[in-house]
Amino acid sequence: MRIDVLTVLPGLFDCFLREGVIGRAVKSGKVNVNVVNIRDYALDKHRVVDDVPYGGGPGMVLKPEPIFRAYDELTKEGEKPLVILTEPWGEVFNQDMALELSKKGRLMIICGRYEGVDERVKSIVDREVSIGDYVLTGGELPAMVIMDAVIRLIPGVLGNRESLSADSFMDRGLLGYPNYTRPSEFRGMRVPDVLLSGHHRRIELWRKEQSLKRTLDRKPELIDKLMREGKLSKEEIE
Ligand code: ADE
Repeated sequence: MRIDVLTVLPGLFDCFLREGVIGRAVKSGKVNVNVVNIRDYALDKHRVVDDVPYGGGPGMVLKPEPIFRAYDELTKEGEKPLVILTEPWGEVFNQDMALELSKKGRLMIICGRYEGVDERVKSIVDREVSIGDYVLTGGELPAMVIMDAVIRLIPGVLGNRESLSADSFMDRGLLGYPNYTRPSEFRGMRVPDVLLSGHHRRIELWRKEQSLKRTLDRKPELIDKLMREGKLSKEEIE
C-alpha cells in the first residue's frame, strides 16, 4: 500500500514512521508512506499556505493552490488514491472503516489545519473523516490514528503473536477480553484460574464470555447491531 500524507507539519510524522510496528511495516516495504510538505508546493517566494477567510472572521484558512499542485503532481501516474480529508465534522472513524481502507492500494490523507481548509479542496476529496467528537489543532494526529489502525491490518504487518490477540473478537465487532501476564498473583490480585489451567477450549470459552459481558456492559448497542447483521446468535449470548 502507498499512502501520501499532505501536511504543513511533516516533522510530526518522524517518530511515528520510525518506531514500533509501523516503523517495521515501513522498513519492510509493506507500506510506503510519503509525507509531503504542502509548503513545498506554495507558489510565492514566502511559501505561504494559508490566508484570511473571505467574509472576515477569526483564524486562517489553508489555501487551495498548494494542495491542488501537490495532488496533481502526486497523482500524475500510478493508481488513483482514495483521498481522505481529516475534519472534526467528518464521518467518525471506526474499525469497519479501517478494514475497508486497509484493502485499498493507495490512500492520500490531507491534514486539515488552522480554522479550516478552502472548501474547493473538497472537490478532490472522497471522504471527510473525524477521529472523534472533539476538536484538535490539526489533522496530523488524526492522520496518524487512521494510518496506525489501517497499516496494522495490512497482511503480514502484525506478527503471529500480535495478531493472535483480542482481534479475533474485535473483528466480530465485540470488545476485547481481559488480559493478564506473570506474576499469577500481584498485590493480592489473582489471575483467573481458567487462564492457568492450560485447557485451551475452556480458555477460549471464557474469553468469548468475557468479551460478550464487556460489550453488553459498555456498548450494548453493538450487540443489537451484530444480532441484526446476523453476526451473533441468540444462543451465543445465553
Ligand atoms: N481536526 C481537528 N479535530 C479533528 C478530529 N477530531 N478529527 C479529525 N480531524 C480533526
